[in-house]
This record gives sequence, structure tokens and C-alpha cells, in this order.
Amino acid sequence: MNRLVVCLAVLLLSGNIALSREPKENDSDVNYDESKVPHYDLPPLLVSAEGKAIKTPEEWRNIRRPQILALFGNLIYGRIPEPESPIRTEFEVVKADPKFMGGKATRKDVRIRFSNDKGKAEMLVLVFVPNKVTKPAPAFMKHSFNNTKSRDFDVHSMWPGRLKNGWPLGEFFDRGYAFVAVYQQDLVGHNEVEFLKGIHPLFYKKGQSFPKAREWGVLSAVAWGAMRAMDYLETDDDVDHTRVAIMGHSKMGKATLWTAAQDERFALAISAQSGCAGAALWRRRSGETLDKMVTRFPYWLCRNAWKFVNQEDDLPVDQHMLLACIAPRPVYVHSGVEDTWADGRGEYLSAYHAGEVYRLLGRKGLTSESSPPVGEAIIESDVGYHIRQGGHSIQMYDWQRFLDFADYHLKKKTAE
Ligand code: GCU
Repeated sequence: MNRLVVCLAVLLLSGNIALSREPKENDSDVNYDESKVPHYDLPPLLVSAEGKAIKTPEEWRNIRRPQILALFGNLIYGRIPEPESPIRTEFEVVKADPKFMGGKATRKDVRIRFSNDKGKAEMLVLVFVPNKVTKPAPAFMKHSFNNTKSRDFDVHSMWPGRLKNGWPLGEFFDRGYAFVAVYQQDLVGHNEVEFLKGIHPLFYKKGQSFPKAREWGVLSAVAWGAMRAMDYLETDDDVDHTRVAIMGHSKMGKATLWTAAQDERFALAISAQSGCAGAALWRRRSGETLDKMVTRFPYWLCRNAWKFVNQEDDLPVDQHMLLACIAPRPVYVHSGVEDTWADGRGEYLSAYHAGEVYRLLGRKGLTSESSPPVGEAIIESDVGYHIRQGGHSIQMYDWQRFLDFADYHLKKKTAE
């Protein structure tokens, strides 16, 4: 309880009590000027913690990648602790509608229940499978801001190919993809500060009532939920679980990258305007910074991350290393010209620098350090990218490029 009071006091004093998605007026110290980005040196991808050069795919896989994942776990997002009491997981298809979207798809509402001696939690995953395709179908899984229990997932009354929340699922069905939605707040609150409800209590050790400094914050819990949805997909014959693209926008883009970096069952990842703690490089301090993030959202990351506020150069990682952990699986990064809070240039550079690992693994990274022209998508590469005009949203142009990227990589995979 004391912790909650302290946290609210911090938020009040900093004038950041509202959970806005937009920069605030008191953010006059935020840098948006490229000429003012400080000089920085990125931590090396291909040198181990012991100073050994990483020269082969095996060395990357067995030495460097595990080291980097451990650093992100301990210092940025927070590790998932070992539960003292084993967690029982049950899947139940609670509803199935074979006539969804005028018969184009079948919608399944899948409840996943978790329980152990410490408590229980559950999530509701929605699985939409196109009816007229050979099963199992490749799929997109989206980390969702919309509640899967709400009417947001009904078909739009004016646009028959879209959901009420605007997602153009008709396009996905037409291109042969299933679509899966996991709701971010099923297991943890949007800006959780107490961690006494939801999934965390099931993992507490005797006497524990709050995550340790290196243990999972909000984004890590959201990522864990998507992994459990993947556990379900492994049991669903309609979906090809070896061809699942994970995606998300903004905060959910951050969760997407952390999900895909850890769980190699996801075949491809799409980060839409994920910005700070997503694809953008910490060291550029352009747009949102670590300071801004932990002031507004103290527990999206783990508490160890607080130690690096205004000390980004001391971090043993930067976000290009997170993208590199997804290699050799394809990763796509999307930015918007006006989405300066998310630092589109920093998102591109992260994707560009991750290319070093893709190349080591015999894959194709981005070839130029300069960002591509606005509105030009790089699809035929294992690291894809586009920046388009406009601000912080997923527009039709973006959805279509995500589909193009998945078509290029996941459909090619069936042909191989
Ligand atoms: C805030 C936050 C961003 C986040 C965004 C969102 O603006 O500062 O880091 O990406 O919310 O999730 O829409």
C-alpha cells in the first residue's frame, strides 16, 4: 500500500498523473532535433560479455544470444520468476461462431485458465480462422489494447470487412491468414503499481508481495500472456503454429518485440511504432526517454531499469540487440513521420544495426544506414521497414505492408 502511495505521489508531483499517450506540455526538455542527438557508442552485438569475438552462428546461438536475453530480462523488462507451486493451465473453447463476418471466418472464444496454490488468473483469447482456406492456416497474433470481452471485436456496421475496433480482418482472411487477439489487461493492469491481482501473485515466493527489482514488470507479463496463447495454438489444428506472426502497436509493439525475442515459436515479428523500450535506441534520447517512461509508467519495465535513467550510456544493451535476438526470424519495424515521440529514426537505426546478426546467420538485413524514403516499404529482406506520413496509428497502408511482409516470408516457407 505504501508503495502505491509513494508512486502516486511521484506521478502527482511530476504532473504526470494522467495516462496520456501523447507528450505533455511539461515535456519541453524532450529532444526532437536530430542535430542535438548526443554522440553514442552502441554496445557490440558480436563480442561476448567475456570479450570474446563471436564469429559463428553457433557462438551467437550458444553464447551471445543467451547473454543478451539475460541482460534484457534482468535489467529492462524483468525476468519471469520460477513459480514455487506449479501452474495448471486449461484451455476451453467457450464459444464458436462459424458464420463470423458473413461466413468468411469462424470465431472461437478461447478461455485460458491458470491456477496454483497461490491463486488463479485467466485470459480470453479470440481466434478467427478463415473458412475457405486449407487448414492449418498461417496466423497473425496481435497484442491488443481492446478488451477481448468487449463488442470491439464485433463486425463493423458500416465496413463489413473490419471489426468495430477498425482492424481490417477481411483482408487477412482474403489473404489466407487466421487472426488471434490477446488482451493486454487480462493478466496485468495497464499501469499496474501494486501487482496483487492478475498473474503476479501466482509466482510470488513465500512472504513476497511485490516483484523484485529484476522481476517482471507489465510488458513482461503481457509477453508471457502471448506465449500462453501460443501454447493454445499448438493444440488448435486450424492454425499452423509454425507460421505465426506476432504484432502490436506502441506499448503493444514493445511487448511484441520482447515476446518474439524470447519465444522462438513465433515465426515473425512486427513492431508498429513501438518507440521507447520498443525498437528505438535508448542512447539517442530522442522523443520519449527512459526518464519519461518510468515517470509515467513506473512498472512497464522492471525496477532495475530505473537505475539507468539519464545514464543510458551505462546500459550493457541497446534495442538493436533485442531485434537481433529475433534473428534469423524476420522482423518488421514501422514508423510514422509525425510520430516523433517514438523516434522513427531511432527505430530505423535499431533495425539497421540488428542486421549484423542477420548477416552472420546467412540472412538479409537492411543495407543502408539512411532511412528509406517516406512511403517506401522494404519487404524482401529479413529485416523490413517503412516510415509513412502521419502520426501514431496503424493505417490501411501499414496493415497491407505487414501482410506483404508475411506473404513474402511465411508463404515462401510453405513452398520451401
Ligand atoms: C505513451 C508512452 C509510449 C507508448 C504509448 C502507447 O505515449 O509514452 O511509450 O508507446 O503511450 O502505448 O500508445
